[in-house]
Amino acid sequence: MSSQIGPKEPAEQVPAWPGEEPLGTRAAARDPVADPGVPPHEYRVQDLDGRAAKRSERTVALVFTVSMAATVGFIAAFVAFPPDKIVYVWPLGRVSALNAGLGVTLGIALFCIGAGAVHWARTLMSDHELVQERHPVTARPEVRRRVLTDFGQGARESQLGRRKLIRNTMFGALVMVPLSGAVLLRDLGPLPEDKLRHTMWAKGKLLINENTKQPLRPADITVGSLAFARPEGLEEDDHDFQAAIAKAAVMLVRLEPGDIKDKRELDWSHEGIVAYSKICTHVGCPVSLYEQQTHHVLCPCHQSTFDLSDGARVIFGPAGHPLPQLNISVNKDGYLEARGDFAVPVGPAFWERG
Ligand code: FES
Repeated sequence: MSSQIGPKEPAEQVPAWPGEEPLGTRAAARDPVADPGVPPHEYRVQDLDGRAAKRSERTVALVFTVSMAATVGFIAAFVAFPPDKIVYVWPLGRVSALNAGLGVTLGIALFCIGAGAVHWARTLMSDHELVQERHPVTARPEVRRRVLTDFGQGARESQLGRRKLIRNTMFGALVMVPLSGAVLLRDLGPLPEDKLRHTMWAKGKLLINENTKQPLRPADITVGSLAFARPEGLEEDDHDFQAAIAKAAVMLVRLEPGDIKDKRELDWSHEGIVAYSKICTHVGCPVSLYEQQTHHVLCPCHQSTFDLSDGARVIFGPAGHPLPQLNISVNKDGYLEARGDFAVPVGPAFWERG
């Protein structure tokens, strides 16, 4: 049985102004671009059928209930997942279970609130069209006549129409003058091209100890210590020293090879010695606080924390990417050397990686 909750009579015609004919019936023939007005109101099935309205009500309630359940899931994920638990989620790969759980449940909760509100508004709330009265925006006829008269008089007195040479050169000058600003853009400096993607590191470059300025040997890196290095050939009095060291600075740590969880990290290490960029991938502070027991390294600026035993994965803080690893080995003289440049750009993650 259906119950009618909306009127059955034909859609009412809404007059634009008192005394005018309804907007929806204006004859377009009188004016080919006439305002078509508000179309006749169409009732929704929920306006005419009480059971359909009830179904919509239940749907909205269900979506809001899913939102509530997702919020409970958010709290449960926060309590249940330890910060360092990693899970595989297709297609994202290995991600923090805590971050994934919080993100998914909060996303569902917010989406369902929005979806429920939209469905409620579209199916159950009143959808009567309203006409908003506004004052006419056109000027009074005498004002328009006066403006046109003044404009015509000004055009005649300036002789713009008669002096075509002046008119055309003036338009040319107006078009050309913004070019001065465009040319000045060159003074913003040379384009960075791909300089941000590369550092001084290259195959065979020795790792030079930042303190002693001597090439590093594996024996110089003891378990638990943190050493800093720069590429061979980079000196303080080089004119681009600051720019080069800001990209090339690395830190070295010796781990027990068995503690290294990431296979590529192990392949790129030497006897457990790993070399990582010292530049935080958040906004570029030097990362330098190393915790021997956990192999975590902390950026002092905003507390981004990276796990050096697991590919320098971010385990806390705002950094968006792991620290880039430098592939190292030992040369025939027993010194640590790079096997090439970093595989990804170093530093802040807002430089798109490719
Ligand atoms: S710069 Fe390292 S956390 Fe912000």
